[in-house]
Amino acid sequence: MSEMEAMIIPEIWQHTLETIRKEPGAVFLLGGVDTGKTWFMRYLVHQLVPEARVGIIDADVGQSTIGPPACISYAEFSEVPEDFGQIQPEKYAFIQSIAPGNSLLPSLLALQRIIRYAREKAPDYLILDTTGFIQGDLARQLKLAKIELLSPRYIVAFERGMELVHILSKIPRTSGIHIIRQPVAPAVQRRSREYRRAYRESLWREYFRHARVQEIPFENVVFRNFWLNDGEPLEPDEVANYAKQLDCQILYGENQRDGVFLLADGYPRKDVQYQLSRYGDMIHITSFRDIEDSILAFVDHAGFVLALGILIDIKLQEKKLIVKTALEDAGQIAWIEMSELTFNPYGPPA
Ligand SMILES: Nc1ncnc2c1ncn2[C@@H]1O[C@H](COP(=O)(O)OP(=O)(O)OP(=O)(O)O)[C@@H](O)[C@H]1O
Ligand SMILES: [Mg+2]
Repeated sequence: MSEMEAMIIPEIWQHTLETIRKEPGAVFLLGGVDTGKTWFMRYLVHQLVPEARVGIIDADVGQSTIGPPACISYAEFSEVPEDFGQIQPEKYAFIQSIAPGNSLLPSLLALQRIIRYAREKAPDYLILDTTGFIQGDLARQLKLAKIELLSPRYIVAFERGMELVHILSKIPRTSGIHIIRQPVAPAVQRRSREYRRAYRESLWREYFRHARVQEIPFENVVFRNFWLNDGEPLEPDEVANYAKQLDCQILYGENQRDGVFLLADGYPRKDVQYQLSRYGDMIHITSFRDIEDSILAFVDHAGFVLALGILIDIKLQEKKLIVKTALEDAGQIAWIEMSELTFNPYGPPA
């Protein structure tokens, strides 16, 4: 059964479509978890193309339709896709997490880059799909910030009870934004955590399907959110000395302005680390086990993802990362962003 055949179209969706069609513009989809935002976005694409060019910004970072999870992606439609899952994003930006509440600044920066790009492409309709993160002060601030960045003509609010009131009431009445309220359609289904996790795993698997293990030199790149490559490498005897004191294998270390940074294999003795930090330089230790299999992003100078990768190993002397990635040109890397997300490409399905 095709996507549209499975879709039950509530009358209110048709009204909203007609309202938007009368005056094309940017549309912000706002609603809690499982309120029908993403399916409504698909419905709009189905209805608006081919007469119009529709740009989709997928910021539904945990349950992405376009592009991999943990990324905000942009794609444009001039015809209805057979399968949304096969759509490749034109541009995407990494937010380091699958929950925007855990990475506020990367989320906003990523969204800003993508919105700028989309605005330059100037599609007839620009639709922003978001996560269902709406509860609490943080969620409100984040949604308001995103609304400000997009400056949409419409907010389609998928209302379930009163849960959106605390956000919608903060949108200035003089903003010129047309708020379209629509109750959650009965056809919308709740999806379990397991379902969501399995869907996300399938997206990662698909994304890394054509990735291969590569050596990526990092001599000339910056790690945006990790200490590696910022300071002076320690001499071998200094490394050996720390290894002895910490009773742990130390793979590598750097001297930096704010202390000594060590990469350990395993976990060192906390009490010794504390003592050393107290009477000497601040000691910061990363265990390789905590970053192994982690998902990282190779980012270009404009802040867009060149490719994501899975960290397999680090050749510290040669300054090379061993990464499973589909990256084509390591010369374009401006910076690398690490994350705490992991994906084991060889493991059994989760
Ligand atoms: N119009 C519809 N007809 C039939 N089924 C629907 C319709 N809209 C949504 N659904 C069902 O409900 C599920 C949840 O809808 P959807 O994915 O659009 O929610 P969402 O608001 O995007 O959720 P999230 O906050 O997790 O991103 C869909 O996976 C689909 O199975
Ligand atoms: Mg969604």
